[in-house]
Amino acid sequence: MTTTEKGARPLAPRQDNAREFTFTLSDFKQVKNRLYDHAGIALADHKLDLVYNRLVRRIRALKVKSFREYFIALDNSPEEFNHFINAMTTNLTSFYREAHHFEYISNTYLPALAKQGQKTLRVWSSACSVGEEPYSIAISLLDSSVKISDWKIEIFATDIDTNVLATAKTAVYPMKRIEGLSLKRKKIGFLRGKGTHKSYAMVKPSLQSWVKFDQCNLMEAWPVTGPLDIIFCRNVMIYFDKETQWKLLERMATLLKPGGLLCIGHSESLPKGMTTLKLLGRTIYQKIK
Ligand SMILES: C[S@@+](CC[C@H](N)C(=O)[O-])C[C@H]1O[C@@H](n2cnc3c(N)ncnc32)[C@H](O)[C@@H]1O
Repeated sequence: MTTTEKGARPLAPRQDNAREFTFTLSDFKQVKNRLYDHAGIALADHKLDLVYNRLVRRIRALKVKSFREYFIALDNSPEEFNHFINAMTTNLTSFYREAHHFEYISNTYLPALAKQGQKTLRVWSSACSVGEEPYSIAISLLDSSVKISDWKIEIFATDIDTNVLATAKTAVYPMKRIEGLSLKRKKIGFLRGKGTHKSYAMVKPSLQSWVKFDQCNLMEAWPVTGPLDIIFCRNVMIYFDKETQWKLLERMATLLKPGGLLCIGHSESLPKGMTTLKLLGRTIYQKIK
């Protein structure tokens, strides 16, 4: 799977009679409830066609005859439920997406920590998709005036979707995924494939060694412990309702050390009244000291 296959894409509504399998509003509600209860994802009603198109592949793979039969399979097989979650997530991402976060780390945050004599860094990319976000964090640490060769670096990278994690762990990406990066960042981060692999780039093993991938549903217990210097929680809160966002952010704030950073996505914001984090600028928040 590639990052673009399951990017958010508007789909024109289709007449039910044009569908291979009947998909009623009640079927859609069943999907909605399961997804919300497990992953906190609140599906909007206009996503009906998107849901059908994502799940119809599972119906064909299972060779069941209806969505009713599919729901029975779903409720009786944890493996099928995992396929369901993987099918329903939107994994759009890119290297250096919303580049100002990485530039703030390289140019401002890391130098400030170095000035205080710090030589460790613990970062969590909490919805890491295929890994381009945590590997961009790794690149940003070397794209800084601070020399971190004697630092202990830990980048925890988690996602609910096991397919994207499998891709992330390979650390191999089509060359076109890195073509927008500067030559300096490409040199810091990647080795170019040779021969039949020449259209692929691999993240350098030294950077890979900083990143630990793990499955984590943000609605459940987390495998990551504090204190953390930075949390990336970007472009995932948009799928959650306000109450879920609030609980999630409160939990994340407790893991951040005083002065630690929370980076969120460009269309996300912190609920009003949250006092543990203050806005530093452009979707970067700081844990109150
Ligand atoms: C749009 S991608 C964002 C990727 C990256 N953070 C970025 O901004 O480029 C959203 C990711 O959130 C993950 N996700 C959705 N619900 C989740 C949950 N409950 N727990 C953990 N990850 C979740 C999806 O699997 C997907 O990979």
